[in-house]
Amino acid sequence: MTRLDFAELSAAIKQLFGQDQVPLHVPLFQGNEKKYVNDTLDSQQISSTGSYLDQLESSLAEITQTSSAVAMVNGTSALQLALQVVGVKGGEEVITQALTFIATANAIAYNQAYPVFVDVDADTMGMSPRALKAFLEEFAEIKPSGTYNKLTGRRIAACVPVHSFGFMCRIDEIVAICQEWNIPIVEDAAEALGSSLNNKPAGSFGSMGVFSFNGNKIVTSGGGGAIVSNNTADADKARFLSMTARDSHAFEYNYSVTGYNFRMPNFNAALLCAQLEQLEFLKESKKKLYADYQSLLQKIDGVELIAPPNNTDWNHWLVTVKCESKAVRDALLQATNENGVVTRPVWKLMHHLPMFENCQKDGQHNARHLEELIVNLPSSPRKA
Ligand SMILES: Cc1ncc(COP(=O)(O)O)c(C=O)c1O
Repeated sequence: MTRLDFAELSAAIKQLFGQDQVPLHVPLFQGNEKKYVNDTLDSQQISSTGSYLDQLESSLAEITQTSSAVAMVNGTSALQLALQVVGVKGGEEVITQALTFIATANAIAYNQAYPVFVDVDADTMGMSPRALKAFLEEFAEIKPSGTYNKLTGRRIAACVPVHSFGFMCRIDEIVAICQEWNIPIVEDAAEALGSSLNNKPAGSFGSMGVFSFNGNKIVTSGGGGAIVSNNTADADKARFLSMTARDSHAFEYNYSVTGYNFRMPNFNAALLCAQLEQLEFLKESKKKLYADYQSLLQKIDGVELIAPPNNTDWNHWLVTVKCESKAVRDALLQATNENGVVTRPVWKLMHHLPMFENCQKDGQHNARHLEELIVNLPSSPRKA
């Protein structure tokens, strides 16, 4: 088989997309997007209430097989509020992974809590149940008032595993461990709408699941996010807090707790309702793209596609490759970006950033390895 260099790979990727400049991920609007958005303009229901918000929340609950969904202004605020609702308070700790987008750690910091970083699995790029268990066995103790970190004396108030790039982490095993240690889970499923593990949807495993509908996600509302939960009272509490926590009254402004202005506008919900109608098409389109990359990458040395474990249905959000060395990764990034094909390295590990450098962490064996080797390839959905 003829081998391709990275400049030739860039040309082949341009052919896959039929474009001379290939972005990393852009949305595809081919359904009812304009119609639904225009409805909100015509009805003047563009803000924090409206029929598209109601429709969106029932569709999200249905897709994720949960009892409630709460539409919010973005995934970061959804994470922040979900952590608050499951009981995270200032000065407490939240276990998460260092290999994640900054928003996961920021949302913990917004609650004045401390992130603690455990390692990821090499294949899923999400939290490793083995690393979580080892951390808890070494550092945690259960007391009547909660589970505490013996080293810091702080309460471990929540655990936030991430489904990186839409790949399901071993969330079933993480749920079992957290149950044993009495720690609620907020599932960062920001990138994973439409993914599932053993037919159980991303977002439905934890006490709360969080999604992002930012412009680069599999479906988008421009900016947006949501919380899903099987605990209707908690979901209602999140909705209440996201809408300034105004007490129910026909016309008076009464507040008894500090709320937020985190509600998704109906205008954005309209766009997302139309996008959700396309979710299965978008997944299918991305699956075909992945198959095209499989053929293409057979001709490239030193670069291998990451594939999800067998018992998962991956939404194929962002195609991810692992390079055989950092030098190969750097060469791939350089050549593709120089040739008009946008590729990106994975995020820097959170404890490599100044805000989180003093956080407790384990050895990060897999995360450190992946940080140097991963590249995301252009993954936009293509037209029918
Ligand atoms: C893993 C992860 N968590 C959280 C977020 C935050 O979502 P948003 O950008 O909608 O605030 C994102 C997305 O951008 C993400 O990828």
